[in-house]
Amino acid sequence: MLPQKMEDALNEQINREISSAYLYSSMESWFASKSLDGFAKWMNSQVKEELNHSRKIFDYIIQRNGNVKFFDIESPKCEWTTHKEIFEKTLEHEKYITSQISNLYSIAKDENDVATQVFLQWFISEQVEEENSVKKILDKINLTECSCDSIYHLDSNL
Ligand code: FEO
Repeated sequence: MLPQKMEDALNEQINREISSAYLYSSMESWFASKSLDGFAKWMNSQVKEELNHSRKIFDYIIQRNGNVKFFDIESPKCEWTTHKEIFEKTLEHEKYITSQISNLYSIAKDENDVATQVFLQWFISEQVEEENSVKKILDKINLTECSCDSIYHLDSNL
């Protein structure tokens, strides 16, 4: 049986994952509206990943005989000015999610919930990958700054 404190915290994480998908959808729409299709496609794959993360937690709660709960999803920021701003925000957001996964892990340890500690290990590795892939794109953006040529090439690569 899932400890109540753990169940509540996992339900909050489902909401954060869906909110992440909502935020990345907003970013995707900005890129799509500028015909930066490579960036839009990359963001769309993040949207799908976030929904997949929420689903993993959903399934896990059910598997442990818990109850899935639903909360309001906050509106994401919709006004963006540059691709650099978007990737800075994405990195900041992923770092926030990493900190929340670490909090979940601490709760699992405090509750002596070994199964959830094992379950969360996938998310811990996933966050390392996610932060790294966003940082790599941001590094390229910072290297080339805002030349039109470099935006075009990066968009093509994505
Ligand atoms: Fe589900 Fe990008 O963290």
